[in-house]
Amino acid sequence: MEKFKSENYDIYLGKLQFPQIENFLQKKVYQSSKKIIIVDENTKHFCLPKLLKNVKTLQAANIIEIKNGEKHKTIDDCKLVWEKLIELKTDRNSIVINLGGGMLTDIGGFVSSTFKRGIPFINIPTTLLAMVDASIGGKTGVNFGELKNQIGVFSKPMAVFIIPEFLKSLNKSQILSAYAEIIKHALIFDEKYWETIKNIEIHSTDYYLNLIIPSIKIKNEIVSIDPYEKNVRKKLNFGHTIGHAFETISHKKGKALLHGEAIAMGMICETFISHKIAGLSQSELKEIISHIIKYFKPYILQKQDFNTLIEIMSHDKKNSDKEINFTLLNSIGKAEINKTCKKDLIIEAFEFYSHLPFKN
Ligand SMILES: NC(=O)c1ccc[n+]([C@@H]2O[C@H](COP(=O)([O-])OP(=O)(O)OC[C@H]3O[C@@H](n4cnc5c(N)ncnc54)[C@H](O)[C@@H]3O)[C@@H](O)[C@H]2O)c1
Ligand SMILES: [Zn+2]
Repeated sequence: MEKFKSENYDIYLGKLQFPQIENFLQKKVYQSSKKIIIVDENTKHFCLPKLLKNVKTLQAANIIEIKNGEKHKTIDDCKLVWEKLIELKTDRNSIVINLGGGMLTDIGGFVSSTFKRGIPFINIPTTLLAMVDASIGGKTGVNFGELKNQIGVFSKPMAVFIIPEFLKSLNKSQILSAYAEIIKHALIFDEKYWETIKNIEIHSTDYYLNLIIPSIKIKNEIVSIDPYEKNVRKKLNFGHTIGHAFETISHKKGKALLHGEAIAMGMICETFISHKIAGLSQSELKEIISHIIKYFKPYILQKQDFNTLIEIMSHDKKNSDKEINFTLLNSIGKAEINKTCKKDLIIEAFEFYSHLPFKN
């Protein structure tokens, strides 16, 4: 069993997490707490029975089900949960267990952190994306209108339990979506990890563990140094300035990209920009792009989308004043924050993306 110390909570990972959850909830502070498990339709079906079977303390827990899907990561959906929490007479001695993917840990963390000025919660991520990324680092929140994650708070879970067994019911595109964040971790932080990633195919659960552990270490190390994203944490935004805009436009067009699919596109464009203005070499550009397009499908961009994308990016909360802020790569494993670039270069990056020889 691996255990990582984060700022002031633990991340448990390995084969014995169910007993670890039991032990955790048996701690004096939680022994008599009301336990509330938040699930969505899928985690209720695929994950909750396993959790209840293996963690006896939770068998008496109250269950709150939310609707699944990014379009339900809204304040209106929070209201429904807050109403249920009131109905259940939840108080600050209660504890919320978020059982789900990144959408659920984001909304569940936010709802818990704002209810009665904050009640404790733990995260049990059930998607690869939530395991390597969303459930760690204390960012919680919801989308607002068309804009991603505009309302939220930094708030840390009491613990995170990573149970790779839950990955078995995920489909390939969900795994691939997380793979984009895994690629990102290597590109911004660890050249050796990039070599590992390049040389293995993504399939078995064993393989997931080989990715989950290094990725969690990287994310955890970065967020522990800079929990409030003042400096080094911004490195994690690589691929996200443009990626979030792709994600938003795809929702508008009614053919929604998964978060990681959009981030893979964003990383392609931002790798191109890195080559143009941040010193990334031509050979590294080629190496990164050819690996990404080996796995991800193309997304057809029309010329008229380009300005809409730039418009969306200018609303991104990572930007200061009028400049669009990027994290770019100086080389593989080394990222530089707070870079800005001209609109024309961003358009050039969209053109570059549109002409890539995708294999899928
Ligand atoms: N807070 C952060 O630091 C952070 C970081 C990255 C991403 N995010 C957020 O995470 C979200 C994306 O995460 P996600 O891809 O996990 O999304 P998600 O929670 O929407 O899960 C994707 C789908 O998988 C289903 N699902 C979850 N676990 C399952 C399982 N074990 N078996 C079968 N189906 C299952 C869900 O019901 C959903 O339909 C976005 O909202 C993004 O903004 C947050
Ligand atoms: Zn992301």
